[in-house]
Amino acid sequence: MPKVIAVTSGKGGTGKSSICSGLGYALAKQGNRTLIIELDFGLRCMDIIFGMKDVEYDISSVLDGKCDIHTAIRQTSLASNLYLLCAPKDPFYTVTAEQITQICQDVKKYYDYIIIDTGAGINSHVFDIVAQSNLILVVTTPDPICVRDARMMSDAFYARGNQSQRLIINKVTKNALGYSLVRDLDEIIDAIGVQLIGVIPEDYQIVASTGTGQPIPSGSPSLVALEAISKRIQDEYIPLTIKVG
Ligand SMILES: Nc1ncnc2c1ncn2[C@@H]1O[C@H](COP(=O)(O)OP(=O)(O)OP(=O)(O)O)[C@@H](O)[C@H]1O
Ligand SMILES: [Mg+2]
Repeated sequence: MPKVIAVTSGKGGTGKSSICSGLGYALAKQGNRTLIIELDFGLRCMDIIFGMKDVEYDISSVLDGKCDIHTAIRQTSLASNLYLLCAPKDPFYTVTAEQITQICQDVKKYYDYIIIDTGAGINSHVFDIVAQSNLILVVTTPDPICVRDARMMSDAFYARGNQSQRLIINKVTKNALGYSLVRDLDEIIDAIGVQLIGVIPEDYQIVASTGTGQPIPSGSPSLVALEAISKRIQDEYIPLTIKVG
């Protein structure tokens, strides 16, 4: 059975979708057949991130009986073992938690990892899927508002019984944190109460690769951080190094 990883945050724009695509790429490059399922029903964006201009089918096509699940899943141009299932184009498309669960069940046996991209905050349909996933990656930036919202999200998933959570601190710069980087990171971790799995620096390469159909360039600080997170997910010990500009 694959490991189902849900990427979530309280506040919007923390970098969830970028992390899903970068982590998916890292896992795929490390030899794992990986599927990203986009469950952000309000604002789909994965087709843009992956530079796909002609996404004909998505989750709604499957639910409406227009195609089967395997037709709706698209191979990405980043890696031959990295696949994407897009959210519906229509932001008002209604779907039940049971329908989403069924889709995840139907595709599970074909993948090593399934990464679920979610919208910001708590959406009742997606909440159960995230709560049931094998690993929840809670994403925050150093911004105090993001930190408090991340705590609220994490608490909600703990309350639902999911203890398997790890924290990603994204968009980290020296300036954002002040001078004592490590002490400030410690404060963020303590405030959220979730064990850290990685720190991703603010890196323009993430923005620049969006929509190109190309991966984040090899060796760029954000990809190095994402590759380390990917290996930690696979239970490899990778010491934390933080390189921020
Ligand atoms: N480490 C980073 N360094 C610089 N820019 C980043 C980083 N991570 C993400 N971004 C940029 O931040 C913006 C928001 O990222 P993204 O869309 O991935 O966030 P999100 O959490 O999925 O947003 P939403 O809540 O709307 O779904 C994008 O322009 C993205 O390129
Ligand atoms: Mg997003």
